[in-house]
Amino acid sequence: MIPKETVDKIFDAADIYDVIKDYVNLKRAGVNYKGNCPFHDEKTPSFVVSPSKGIYKCFGCGAAGNVSKFIMEHEKVSFPEALKILAKKYNIEIIEEELTEEKIQENETRDSLFIVTEFAKNFFKTQLHETAEGKNIALSYFKERGFRDDIIKKFELGWSPQKRDALTETALKKGYKLDFLKATGLTIAKDNNYRFDRFAERVIFPIHTLSGKVIAFGGRTLKADKKTAKYLNSPESEIYHKSKILYGIYLAKNAMVKLNKCYMVEGYTDVISMYQAGIENVVASSGTSLTVEQIKLVRRFTKNLSIIYDGDPAGIKASLRGIDLALAEEMNVRIIALPEGEDPDSFAKKRTLEELQTYISDHEEDFIKFKTELFAEEAKNDPVKRAQLIKNIVKSISVIPDRILREEYIRSTAKQLNVGEETLYFEVRKILRKNFEDKRKQNYGETLRQKPTKPQLPAETAGIYSEVIEKDILSFLLNYGNETIKIEDIDEEITVAEFIISEIKNDDLEFHNLIYKEIFQDYEKYFYINAESVQDYFLKHENDKINSIAAEILSPKQELSKIWTSRGAAENNIEKRLHEIIPELIDTFKLKIVQLKIEKLNKQLAQLKPSETYEEQLNRLLEELNLFNKLKVKLTEFLEKTALL
Ligand code: CTP
Ligand code: MN
Repeated sequence: MIPKETVDKIFDAADIYDVIKDYVNLKRAGVNYKGNCPFHDEKTPSFVVSPSKGIYKCFGCGAAGNVSKFIMEHEKVSFPEALKILAKKYNIEIIEEELTEEKIQENETRDSLFIVTEFAKNFFKTQLHETAEGKNIALSYFKERGFRDDIIKKFELGWSPQKRDALTETALKKGYKLDFLKATGLTIAKDNNYRFDRFAERVIFPIHTLSGKVIAFGGRTLKADKKTAKYLNSPESEIYHKSKILYGIYLAKNAMVKLNKCYMVEGYTDVISMYQAGIENVVASSGTSLTVEQIKLVRRFTKNLSIIYDGDPAGIKASLRGIDLALAEEMNVRIIALPEGEDPDSFAKKRTLEELQTYISDHEEDFIKFKTELFAEEAKNDPVKRAQLIKNIVKSISVIPDRILREEYIRSTAKQLNVGEETLYFEVRKILRKNFEDKRKQNYGETLRQKPTKPQLPAETAGIYSEVIEKDILSFLLNYGNETIKIEDIDEEITVAEFIISEIKNDDLEFHNLIYKEIFQDYEKYFYINAESVQDYFLKHENDKINSIAAEILSPKQELSKIWTSRGAAENNIEKRLHEIIPELIDTFKLKIVQLKIEKLNKQLAQLKPSETYEEQLNRLLEELNLFNKLKVKLTEFLEKTALL
């Protein structure tokens, strides 16, 4: 039995477009996506996927259903198996369990909480529209703020009466349990004689899930005094997790897909006024900084996120952190700054839809550019601040997963800040390498870097084996540097070049052959500047030794050495197997270096002569030997796993 929360989690994560695009080549068609039906043979696409409805339908053969149905049909599996496939795709852990009494209880609790919030929502609406108090105080307030009737209804706004326990008492009389009223935060109770409504005397903004169920509320006081908090919100509950929801998403999602864009504002009234003005693809983070879950929610519908900012630069700066999260999720983030003293609510109210749209398109600015400008102004003449600024911007750039996009940003930012592209490349590279290293380390455990001294290759014969591998490394860099590989153990995509460079730099692995070493160093520099033309660069290299090695490596007949490809790994299908071959090659290189180091240490040990520092030297040598032997065992294990030794 897969627990209900897990099922919910899987359905929350499994965006139907994201799932089906793995099986069908989908093209955007208005609000939907279209492709050739995988369930029958066809030449013109009649298979439609609707992200907002979460369904697919084929107008040719009639196949239709939701995301789990698709997997069941396509993979010919049962429902639980389909769930497992989806769980795997989204890295959701399934711990199956017997449906215990307790579990049944929990599921029922969730359902009960939904029932209570549904009741409360209706109660607040009735109070607003059908009581004298509601009409006089609250409805007139909304009208004064300029909210139209249809909008008030659409957002299901309400009124929680002045009487301190109006909702609680009505609910209890109707048989709703106090426990659930408390669990949703609607009722605050100290003991049975002391209980009242959380939202008493406030106008109500219900918060909806994607599918339109109400899970929480925001309540605004109409009092102007400073002592009363302007907004009160529902506390976290089993059905409401603030960080996972966006206000307005239920009403915005269709327009988000249709217009392929999402506007992000700060508050409830901002969403409502923008929507009323005709900009329906708008959601709010409700006064908190953006979370990864919220960004993923948006990304199910569009990758284009435009954040509308009001307020001073300080406020803007405080919320910049959340935006890096969006960049990391491959979103295109833009910023729209409003004139001073305006928020989206006030701004939208004073303008027609056309005026709003014009303002937006005139003021929309790329996020990184915006951020750079924001800080550049104050860092102008201060070198320390400028250095910080560069680090700061580079951090944003480095989280962008797409390398080509990253490079574009590096170029434009370098221009904007009037610094060399190389400087930015260098900084970005440093961060990427650090991130990569951290991730690898989590799986690899120890690395060579933790050694007490650098492994130095002994000269002469011993290095020759290593040189053969070094040449293979260069061969992969030149032939396949731009290919991306997925490193399984960390689930990360990276180019062959970036992988090799980071591995070699992280462990300070030295090339033994000096000319290879030079090629590698040159490659590293050039790759980050112009990855596409790196082959050309080496073929035309001014150093004749280098260009002839490049020519040899790039010639089709070039074969890889057999030293590490003992099962003929590299003979054919190299491109498809890069993800296996490259780590193996690097590990073999590491192993070679470790073996050489051990040989050398053993030799030193044998030659150790009695002296004052004998003991000290002996201990140091033994310690190093011990460490390198451990590394050797580890690397050998890795390589044995892939049956390459
Ligand atoms: N907010 C909140 N709790 C507060 C203050 C603010 O939850 N004590 C959230 C609300 O979602 C609010 C948003 O932050 O909508 C923005 O706050 P603010 O700008 O103060 O409110 P406005 O949305 O401008 O509300 P109004 O126009 O009614 O003053
Ligand atoms: Mn406001």
